[in-house]
Amino acid sequence: MKIVQSDIHNCNVVEMEKNHNPAGNITVYQNGSSQPFDVKRVYYLYDVPGGSERGGHAHKELYQLILAASGSFDVILDDARNKKIIQLNRPYYGILVVPGIWREIVNFSSGAICLVLASEKYSEDDYIRDYSEFRKIKGAVDVD
Ligand code: TYD
Repeated sequence: MKIVQSDIHNCNVVEMEKNHNPAGNITVYQNGSSQPFDVKRVYYLYDVPGGSERGGHAHKELYQLILAASGSFDVILDDARNKKIIQLNRPYYGILVVPGIWREIVNFSSGAICLVLASEKYSEDDYIRDYSEFRKIKGAVDVD
C-alpha cells in the first residue's frame, strides 16, 4: 500500500479465531494462511507505567497487527485527514495498521501487554517520527 494514499479505513479490526478450551483458550496467527501479511518480527510492550503514551510515529512500509495480549489500551490512528480511536481489550481482536498511519497507544491498564506482529524486521529508516513531516508526506496542508 502506498504510504501517501493509505487511510484509517484501511485499518480494520481483525477477529482472530479463538480455540475454546475449558482449561484455557488458544489463538493462533500462522504465516501463509488468510492473514493480511507474513510475520517477520514479534515484540511486546509490558510494564507500561500508568499514563504513558507509546507510538507517536508512522511507518513507511511496515504492516502491523496490534493486540492486547493482556489488559487493555486505546490505539489512536491518524491519516492526517481523519482520526479514530480503537479500544483493544480482548486477546483475540487485533487492529491492522497499514503503512502511512500515525499511531499512538494510550490508556494502558495495569499489567497490559501490547503484542505487535510486524511484517518486517526492525529498521529505524522505516520510521517517520516527526508529525509535521508526516503531514507533509501525506499531502495535508497546514494553514498558519
Ligand atoms: P519505538 O517503536 O519507538 O517504541 P514505541 O512505539 O513502542 O513507543 O521503539 C522504542 C525503541 O526500541 C527504539 O528506539 C528502538 C527500539 N526497538 C528495537 O530495537 N527493535 C524493535 O523491534 C522495536 C519495535 C524497537
